Amino acid sequence: MTEPYAKPLLATLKGERQDVPPIWLMRQAGRYLPEYRALRAEKGGFLALATDPMAAAEVTLQPIRRFGFDGAILFSDILMIPWALGQELSFGAGEGPRLQPALVDGLLAPLRCEPERLAPVYETVRRVAAALSPATTFLGFAGSPWTVATYMVAGQGSKDQSAARQLAYRDPEAFAGLIAAIADLTVEYLLAQIDAGVEAVQLFDSWAGSLAPEEFRTWVIGANRLIVERIHHHRPGVPIIGFPKGAGAKLPAYARETGVDAVGLDETVDPVWANAALPVGVPVQGNLDPLALEAGGEALDRGIDRVLAAFPDRPLVFNLGHGIGQHTPIAHVERLLARVRGR
Ligand code: CP3
Repeated sequence: MTEPYAKPLLATLKGERQDVPPIWLMRQAGRYLPEYRALRAEKGGFLALATDPMAAAEVTLQPIRRFGFDGAILFSDILMIPWALGQELSFGAGEGPRLQPALVDGLLAPLRCEPERLAPVYETVRRVAAALSPATTFLGFAGSPWTVATYMVAGQGSKDQSAARQLAYRDPEAFAGLIAAIADLTVEYLLAQIDAGVEAVQLFDSWAGSLAPEEFRTWVIGANRLIVERIHHHRPGVPIIGFPKGAGAKLPAYARETGVDAVGLDETVDPVWANAALPVGVPVQGNLDPLALEAGGEALDRGIDRVLAAFPDRPLVFNLGHGIGQHTPIAHVERLLARVRGR
């Protein structure tokens, strides 16, 4: 063993198991924090916040300051890519995101690509990179093409992603064109995040679980592999975390065939099974149930211990199985950190 790596999260993503697992939480910057709610109210909405580099950098740093997580995740959203591809984006209060026009036919032709809409994000990255302590790993991210496409086609979130799934069956060529356009801009976006200062990136495939096996192979494994190959080729050594939420039994194939450096597990995955089923040595991230964190008490302690015990030899990044809920008490997050860190 060499001396302890200065950045435990980055070291873990590169395959070096740590005695105390590094920890960060998906959606760690967000509405459960009073300081986030105050700044969001001041800026007047999510998009105004995400496109103001000074404010977005501040929001990225808020949970680091409060809790000392091992990783800071860029404050932005996976829907910045549809916005840069030319759809209009809004986040109405309490109704979730809207994209217009909905791409029901999958064709981007009526839209004008506006990649300069991503410029504030790169400025946010530069500001955060300059402010972070050297022990904290800075994570960039993007949505995976399938998940981003589900929003672009429906024009909003949907329960079963049926509009995109239908389009993929009815007109696979048009759908493949949409996936390729998302993948191309996503590669450009992630490379620019890396050049501006992020040290690893996560691909969020939040709706990977809604696809049948053959479609999963094409739209999840295939599309993520394309991105992973290109990032690895252009920026070798920058770890990529893949998070195919809901993939279940398809996780081992996803891990082997996409080439991701680490795999995020959602809370429905049995961690003992995952440890046995995933290729030896591949780092995992997860997978405490966000609702156990919200509930606290016994359920929280048992949930934490189960994750910690499931990976005796594997590099582990402690995280939730999905984003932290907005009603999560701050005290429960403090308790989680203390228990994972053993004090
Ligand atoms: O993790 C982080 O703290 C970084 C920031 C981040 C946000 N969204 C900020 C955000 C990240 C990594 C995301 C990813 C994201 N966005 C995903 C993938 C992860 C997942 O949760 O499955 C998806 C599907 C989206 C799309 C999205 N953005 C939705 C459906 C919504 C509305 C629902 C909601 O939770 O409010 C958003 C808005 C959004 N993105 C908020 C935040 C903090 C809430 C905005 C607000 O009202 O302040």
